[in-house]
Amino acid sequence: MNELDAIVASAQAAFAQAATPADLENAKARFLGKTGSITELMKGMAALSVEEKKSRGAAINVAKQAVEAALNARRQALADAELNKQLQAEALDVTLPGRARGTGGLHPVSLTMERLEAIFGSMGFEVAQGPEIEADWYNFTALNTPEDHPARSMHDTFYVEGGSAKAPNLLRTHTSPVQVRHALQHVKQYKALVDSGQPMPEIRVIAPGRTYRVDSDATHSPMFHQCEGLWIGENVSFKDLKYLFTEFCRTFFERDDLVLRFRPSFFPFTEPSAEIDIQFQSGPLAGRWLEVAGSGQVHPNVVRNMGLDPEQHIGFAFGMGLDRFTMLRYGVNDLRLFFDGDIRFLSQFR
Ligand code: FA5
Ligand code: MG
Repeated sequence: MNELDAIVASAQAAFAQAATPADLENAKARFLGKTGSITELMKGMAALSVEEKKSRGAAINVAKQAVEAALNARRQALADAELNKQLQAEALDVTLPGRARGTGGLHPVSLTMERLEAIFGSMGFEVAQGPEIEADWYNFTALNTPEDHPARSMHDTFYVEGGSAKAPNLLRTHTSPVQVRHALQHVKQYKALVDSGQPMPEIRVIAPGRTYRVDSDATHSPMFHQCEGLWIGENVSFKDLKYLFTEFCRTFFERDDLVLRFRPSFFPFTEPSAEIDIQFQSGPLAGRWLEVAGSGQVHPNVVRNMGLDPEQHIGFAFGMGLDRFTMLRYGVNDLRLFFDGDIRFLSQFR
């Protein structure tokens, strides 16, 4: 191998070894740079005769072109490798499933609330609301349950700091405080009507919402939902309660053969009082009774706290457990499932 072939061979080997563009430029300098071996050979030609210059020059040029060709080929190879690496890093796998936007749906208890507002609405009831952080007075005292009354212990709840008997200080244990709130908000308006010779309008209202107690098992949760109902007029009796509540349940569950039971009970704010049970008709709990509401004729002391005269105004109230209605409607046997936030469970109600 002559000297020129040896230079070309060693340049090709050096370029092939260069792993990065910077390595390659360094290798190039060794052959084509100012003091590179090819450049040195060119310098050495100065001393040659014209004839020798021609043949020597041509041979050096052939070698130089071979070195440049090897350099360019390697440059291109390194650039291609870099590009491929980048393309691979940024590659999109178009076969991956897309990120779908799930369709939402109403919570089953919200579905119950909507259904109940529509049914009671068709029976002439308006919808009222009250605060979830309630004052002791509205939650208990106004409902004929003074401070030392033993019935308070059945409504163990969560208290908040600050507040007082009349200012919000506890999480309401039932929706019954809305009875008195609603009546007090409207009593002036009722009295103005009466003063102008018109009849006193009936109070016919429902109040759905969240309620709280220190409770937890398959049919009790610490946060649950109730709907209060209140109907006060001049001649509204317990038999109207039985009729209305039974009609409501038959419409809600879409069954004429629904079995309801009014079981004598006690509430400080009603007299007489009854708890209302419904029997499961199918599913794993078939035959079992579930208490769904408390009810009764509004106690005269409560009517008085509403700003009305119990000699003239009489009526009934009820407080339904909405989570229980939802359990019965869908055949769910543990109400805590409603609040676990498991999408697999909840999406069945969409
Ligand atoms: C009351 O709360 C009375 N305020 C109801 C009432 C209103 C009586 C108006 C008279 C006049 P009781 O504690 O029984 O009553 O609760 C009523 C319903 O709420 C129960 O029948 C049950 O369906 C539901 N309930 C009570 N506690 C829970 C709980 N921890 N989790 C789920 N549902 C509950
Ligand atoms: Mg009860």
